[in-house]
Order: sequence, then structure tokens, then C-alpha cells
Amino acid sequence: MANRVVLAYSGGLDTSVAVRWMIENMGVEVVCLSADVGQEGTLEGNREKALGAGAIAYEELDLREEFASDYLAPVIKANALYEGQYPLVSALSRPLIVKHQVALARKYSADGIAHGCTGKGNDQVRFEVSSMALAPDLELLAPVRNWGFTREDSIRYAAEHDIAVGATKEKLYSIDDNLWGRAIECGEMEDPWAAPPEGVWKMTVPTETEGRDLVLSFERGVPVAIDGTPMPLHELITSLNHTVGAYGWGRLDMVENRRVGIKSRETYEAPGALALMMAHADLESITLERDLQREKLRMEHRYAELIYDGLWFSPLKEAFDAFVDTSQEPVTGEVRLRLEPGRCYVTGRRAPRSLYDYGLATYDAADRFRHADSEGFVRLWGLGVQTWSAIQGPGSR
Ligand code: ARG
Repeated sequence: MANRVVLAYSGGLDTSVAVRWMIENMGVEVVCLSADVGQEGTLEGNREKALGAGAIAYEELDLREEFASDYLAPVIKANALYEGQYPLVSALSRPLIVKHQVALARKYSADGIAHGCTGKGNDQVRFEVSSMALAPDLELLAPVRNWGFTREDSIRYAAEHDIAVGATKEKLYSIDDNLWGRAIECGEMEDPWAAPPEGVWKMTVPTETEGRDLVLSFERGVPVAIDGTPMPLHELITSLNHTVGAYGWGRLDMVENRRVGIKSRETYEAPGALALMMAHADLESITLERDLQREKLRMEHRYAELIYDGLWFSPLKEAFDAFVDTSQEPVTGEVRLRLEPGRCYVTGRRAPRSLYDYGLATYDAADRFRHADSEGFVRLWGLGVQTWSAIQGPGSR
């Protein structure tokens, strides 16, 4: 059994109760880590709460820059959307947090990692599999999965043990957010037919009424500027979340397949992420050679699945990263987005090394395409099905 563990500490009811519960029921010492990954709430007061609950140490880390450069840049380059839609918001922050939990485990000579996830979700998988990949020697503790508390039990336990938990008013939704977006589950939305109540949205509340254009610049697949103003990626994403979100665009409503076999109704808002990925994929349409683009499209789904399934740190993901990085070499250029209430769409793209050839594409006098070449090409292209049809296909029936 572990003697000392590093807990991913949000400061909420569950992780606060988890500190004391692990001390009492698992006989461990607890070091708490609170990470800023760009979530809305503040970490203020977490130190007092953690130490008050019995933690032997508390560490707070601002991981926004690292999150953007090492976790979000790769998924932008890969256009990674789980099941074609979800930009992996929560799935991306977990491996980063675990990386720092492991570093703290070494610093504090801890022999375990702990998290406050339930047994029904994906996040437990991501915390634990990431830890298994980075530090196979560390034990994994999941108190919330073991204790069998209802929310009322947790509130009572906190009160009995003098654990500060702040306001514990009825929690309608399970929310997880960071720089990349916000996930909202539960409540009335557990009925997949029920429309999400307007009140669940925070990042995509429509306030803008006037349309506008916005130009995004990319260098080797990574966004570097908005309207010509260069900025660090984490700031660029924050800025885009505000600009695009104000048009009420960037919401998702889907039933997704969790790793643990459950179909789950989830809603998300990720205005910056979805706008960036739309623009990036568009820029690839003029900068990637056809076969490379097609093959990349095929692997993008798989890449997103790996991340969703907790395999951020895995050999296949690493190999995919190498492929993606090579592919992004020519993906430098600009994409113009048009923002209107409830809408965001591409209206133009350009790149210094664009493969779009006007002379080949045009139907006007500048046309350089050799039309006559197509005759023989198409004859050979269709020869196989022509033969099939004549002998045994629809044509012969
Ligand atoms: N379904 C999403 C995922 O698995 C979001 C999970 C959000 N977590 C939460 N505790 N609400 O990535």
C-alpha cells in the first residue's frame, strides 16, 4: 500500500473530502496539486482548504502555457475531434496534470497518485493510464470510486470533519472546463431528447449583433496571430474564445461513447477550439498534397480516439505525432473567418506555398490544363468496371 500520494486537487467537495478520507481509510499522507489549465473558477483558497483537510503539502501550478504549446498545438495540427465532433477538452488536461503529479511524487518521495474521479467516466482512465505510462511504479488511488458516498454523505462527512468546502448548494450539472472549452453533463440533459436549457451556456452567450471578419495566421500548422497581431497560443485561444463565443457559436450536443461502455449525452462549448480547427483544416486543403491529406484524414479519427481513451502517452500516439509534424511543414498561411450571430465560417484562405494552381483550376482563357490528356486517362481509369459490367455487372443483367 502507498504511504504518500499526490492528489489532483480541484478544491471542490469531492477532492476535499478525499484528502481526509484517504488519510483515515487508506493510511496515506496526501500532497495536493491544484493546476490552472485555464478553467473559469479561481484556485484562491485551495491552499487553506487542502491543508485544512489534512494535506501535508499544497502545490499550485499555472500550466496554461504548457497546456497550449504541448497539448493543444498537437491536436490543432491533427484536427483531432472525437467521433468527428468533440475537441477533447477534458481528455487533454488529464495527461498534463498527471505529468506534474508524477514530478511532484518524485519531489515529495511519494509512491502513489490519486484523483477524484468516479468509476463511470473517462477521466479515471486518463489519470490512471497516463500515470501507468509515465511512472509504472506508482500506485493509483481512486477514493471516490471506493467510498460509495452520495453527495449528501460527502457533505455530512465534510461537516463532521470540519472540512471547508464552500457553498454546497445543489449541483445541477457536472462541469469540467479549461482553455480549450467546457463540458456540461447531467441534470435534465440525461434525457437525450431534452433540449439543453439556455442557462447551461457560459462561453457562448450571444452578445454580438454585428458581423465581422477575422483572419487567423498559422505557421507550420500552429496558430500564431489574429488579424496580424502575433500572440502566444494560450492567449490567442483565450482571445478567440471571447470573440467567437460572443456570436453564440461553438456549441455541441452529442451522445458519445465513453471508454467504459456507456453512451452518454454531453454538451460542450468550445468556440475557440472549433473555430481554430475549422480554419486549420481549411488551410490544409490548399497546402497538403492530396494523398497526404487523405491519409492524414484517415488517421485523425484514430488519433482523437487514442487521446479520448487515455493513451496520450503511448507509442502509437507518439508515432502519429511524428507523422503529423512532418505533414505540417507547408501548413503556413492565413484563413479568413466570417462571424455572424450564431455562425462562423471560412470565407478565404491563402498560403505562400499553396498548391492551388489558378492555371489548372480556371475555366477562363488562362486555362493551362491539357484537356485532351483526360480522354485516355478516364478510359483507363474506368476500364476495370467497364470490363466487370460487360461480363458480370449491372450492365450485363
Ligand atoms: N465526456 C467528456 C470526456 O470524457 C467530458 C468529461 C467531463 N468531465 C466531467 N467531470 N464533467 O472527455
